[in-house]
Amino acid sequence: MTTIPSPIDQATQSNYLDVRSTHIELDWTVDWSQRIIRGTATHSVIANKDNVDKVILDTSYLVVKKCSLASPDGRHHQDLDFALAPKRHPVLGSALTISLPHALSRGDSTRVSIEYATTDECTALGWLDANQTDSKRYPFVYSQCQAIHCRSLIPVMDTPAVKATYHARVRSTLPILLSARRTSPDLDSGVPEIDGTEHTYEWDQPIAIPSYLIAIAGGELEFRPLGDRTGIWAEPGVVDKCADEFRSDAERMVQTAEQLCGPYRWGRYDALVLPSSFPYGGMENPNMTFLTPALIVGDKSQVDVIAHEASHSWHGNDVSVSGWSSFWLNEGWTTYTERLVALKLHGPATRDFEYIQGNKAMTDDLKRFDRDGMRKAQRLHIPYEFGEDPDEFYSSVAYDKGANFLYYLEKLVGGLDVFNPYQQQFIRDFVGQSVTTEQWEKHFWAYWSQFPEKERVLREQVDWDAWLNGEGLELPVKMEYDTTLADRAYSLASSWDSARSLSRSELAKKFSKADLAGFSSNQIVLFLETLGTQKTYDKAVVEAVEEAYRFNENANPEIKLRWFLFSLKAGLYAPEAAHWIRNQGRMKYCRPTYRAIYQVDPDLARQTFREYGVGFLHPIARRLIAQELGLDGKKDKQ
Ligand code: BES
Ligand code: ZN
Repeated sequence: MTTIPSPIDQATQSNYLDVRSTHIELDWTVDWSQRIIRGTATHSVIANKDNVDKVILDTSYLVVKKCSLASPDGRHHQDLDFALAPKRHPVLGSALTISLPHALSRGDSTRVSIEYATTDECTALGWLDANQTDSKRYPFVYSQCQAIHCRSLIPVMDTPAVKATYHARVRSTLPILLSARRTSPDLDSGVPEIDGTEHTYEWDQPIAIPSYLIAIAGGELEFRPLGDRTGIWAEPGVVDKCADEFRSDAERMVQTAEQLCGPYRWGRYDALVLPSSFPYGGMENPNMTFLTPALIVGDKSQVDVIAHEASHSWHGNDVSVSGWSSFWLNEGWTTYTERLVALKLHGPATRDFEYIQGNKAMTDDLKRFDRDGMRKAQRLHIPYEFGEDPDEFYSSVAYDKGANFLYYLEKLVGGLDVFNPYQQQFIRDFVGQSVTTEQWEKHFWAYWSQFPEKERVLREQVDWDAWLNGEGLELPVKMEYDTTLADRAYSLASSWDSARSLSRSELAKKFSKADLAGFSSNQIVLFLETLGTQKTYDKAVVEAVEEAYRFNENANPEIKLRWFLFSLKAGLYAPEAAHWIRNQGRMKYCRPTYRAIYQVDPDLARQTFREYGVGFLHPIARRLIAQELGLDGKKDKQ
């Protein structure tokens, strides 16, 4: 076995090893004018050992008014002593210690209620003014709790090691969605009219989930069904376009993932398309995947994000991780599965094309972390110290090193027909639980010991330690991929490369829009990335690329991102890039673009951030970008 440090989650201050929360009852009011959520969170807790006399929860920037012991029917309350840690931990927040009147013995349960409110420093919630929405009629709010932001929304054991069911009752003047099943208004009655009065929305999540999967969104929202159990939510002006983008793929992607992973336990699979400040491409909130509107490009080229988020239903949501060190188990398995869905729907060339593209992103991240103090972020299993912030270690390493590891193991045992039964067994054996990388590894060997021939090959070939704990810029083995779909992009890039010393007019003669005929947008992305990783180009070449292909006018954000990263390397098009990121909140797009503009024109980067970023970006993105621009990310201090 590989040696892996402490299985204890280093990103929580809760006493989750002593006592755990099994159900959370949320009773909330959304206060749109104050931009806060207030109400109570009631935890049903059960002691893991004897003599438990307190419950310690994570909180971050919450105002706690009162703690009490609730009777089973919730009617009677006995006030409890509580204390918020006087000094906030800069990353982990303020532990809330609630004293119990009687110590619990192992197996005893009780209910603890906290009356509280969020504050304007809440890092989970993004609030938008009416004029930042599509219709410009009503404000909007949405959460992003992964990795450790749930504690700024709810006092909670904010660790994926603890899984609890939840039920929420939310009063709001605008429709409310949660990562759960809607119980009121019932599914047939749609959402109530927005009439200025408060309505109560009730949602129930009967499957135990880690806290980071609790999610809320509110605003002017409409629904369109896609399949029997799939549908799409979005603002009224964009909902039909969103439905068109996903109509032909959502249901069959869930079905394909089911064939690969086993039955879908969650009931409905709906997705919500958010305003453009949403910081991720997608977030696997159960029953209600959150998506960036940047996916809606009209050509369905970004629908694989649905395959990814749907695959999390098994890897991450069914089988969870016990701490952020094992984050790669979520993202590596999910990326591996997403690409199996691509294999089933589009064939082996498409699957491998995704690996080829992913490797580029991974190599960039491995390079970014290639400095003293950060090299552990190059590892698949990251040995966190207490209090380190998982957001700062977020990268495609977990995704692509992880998926490659599993792909490599699949090839070693003889292919998908042999490996897929193992994947399904892994899910069956751990559904409903949270696992460490160590548990995964142990299970892996136990499974393969049933097949001595396979086990022998695995034991002989796999450098387990290099995969899990290795640093550096390379994968432990060189992977071979089917390059059918990549070849055209490579060859166009190399024609440019060999023409780089030609004059502008010669370049204009040699290259034209026709070069890209038949290219998918992902092939254009690969073309630009391939160009960009070769030497830096003269301005004249970059201008000739623009003249031939007009990327400044292209609306596809995946292409835009690579285009600006390429052109900014030659110092070109900083104003166009700055204009583009005014309303791109997806960190995959805005972070590297801000970084690249900053290299060329630091004032422009900072000014764009101050003027457009601060009021628009989700707090997580705001903080990370401010850091990179050498600024303070607080809203009122710009
Ligand atoms: N769960 C992640 C997003 C995430 C990870 C948020 C860690 C916060 C902390 C989600 O499933 C994801 O991977 N999103 C990707 C989608 C892509 C890989 C298809 C994204 O946002 O780019
Ligand atoms: Zn993911």
